[in-house]
Amino acid sequence: MRVLSGIQPSGTLHIGNYLGMMRQMIELQAQNELFCFLADLHAMTSLNRGADLRAKTLQAALDFLALGIDPDKAVFWVQSTVPEINELAWYLSNITPVGLLERCHSYKDKLAKGLPANAGLFNYPLLMAADILAVQSDIVPVGQDQKQHLEVTRDIAIKFNNEFGETFQVPDALIKEGVAIVPGTDGQKMSKSYGNTIEIFGEEKVLRKQVMNIVTDSTPLEQPKNPATCNVFKIYALLATAEQKLALAQKYRAGGYGYGEAKKETFALLWEYFRPYRERRAELSQNLDAVQKILQKGTDKARAEIAKTLQAVREKTGAFL
Ligand code: ADP
Ligand code: TRP
Repeated sequence: MRVLSGIQPSGTLHIGNYLGMMRQMIELQAQNELFCFLADLHAMTSLNRGADLRAKTLQAALDFLALGIDPDKAVFWVQSTVPEINELAWYLSNITPVGLLERCHSYKDKLAKGLPANAGLFNYPLLMAADILAVQSDIVPVGQDQKQHLEVTRDIAIKFNNEFGETFQVPDALIKEGVAIVPGTDGQKMSKSYGNTIEIFGEEKVLRKQVMNIVTDSTPLEQPKNPATCNVFKIYALLATAEQKLALAQKYRAGGYGYGEAKKETFALLWEYFRPYRERRAELSQNLDAVQKILQKGTDKARAEIAKTLQAVREKTGAFL
């Protein structure tokens, strides 16, 4: 199977990104053809400040490599280094009904938050469809929030195939149950834009603070507590083993155990879980030239693959050959 997904390097990556998408990608690379990229063009819809975005892109590359993307197995690149994606987005735009894009929740949400209705924001799902269709992906691992974008991609692929003959593989989203919507420290979906994240590679002090800030109810320390409704427990459970989960649930139910203690245990669990990755990341960050080379190799491989799709699309749409 061909697997593709991307992530916007628009801020520091968090455990919602890791559990919702990155971990699935890393697991899938062993048995599949994996395409993984950093969606810097998409990030420009919310942030475009030259060196700042470039630095964030490099940091996200370090994150992904440290967590286990293997450049010998996977094709790993930065979106803007493959200009053919934008070319494909243009061809696709000519068969995409405006209504399809107008209905997208993420577009509507961003407008509701006061972002200006620029064409980049509006065309966001079209560029995403181009990312996916360009490499003929079968499967796209994402969190729940991207489900509608995958539906748009499928609609576009089917419409193009109907009008021009079989051209694109129609992809399926892969949304993993249990981690489709990882809660943030305030109980809403964890998101870079909500300020409620727990970072994967945060400094010890920052990470501890993020965990200590998880919102809880005001059940007094002595009283029994319900793990199922507690944000701290929910976050702990995401990375704990079955035994660890059971042990913490017992402490909750027994009473005499406060949320402060639970937060300390959660911090310790997170810190240990990511320790080997943190060490690997520190090594990689000492060798940025090697990281640049990995990305360059990824660009070359991605371009070669995408060129095949583009050739077929140019022929069919009438682009001058
Ligand atoms: P953010 O909302 O933090 O900006 P992105 O939109 O860049 O995150 O998402 C990158 C990937 O991580 C997507 O596949 C998205 O579905 C997934 N993801 C983001 N937040 C979560 C979350 N809280 N739970 C599960 N998956 C998530
Ligand atoms: N829109 C995705 C997000 O915010 C990122 C993305 C861009 C993507 N292109 C993609 C995800 C293609 C999967 C496939 O998370």
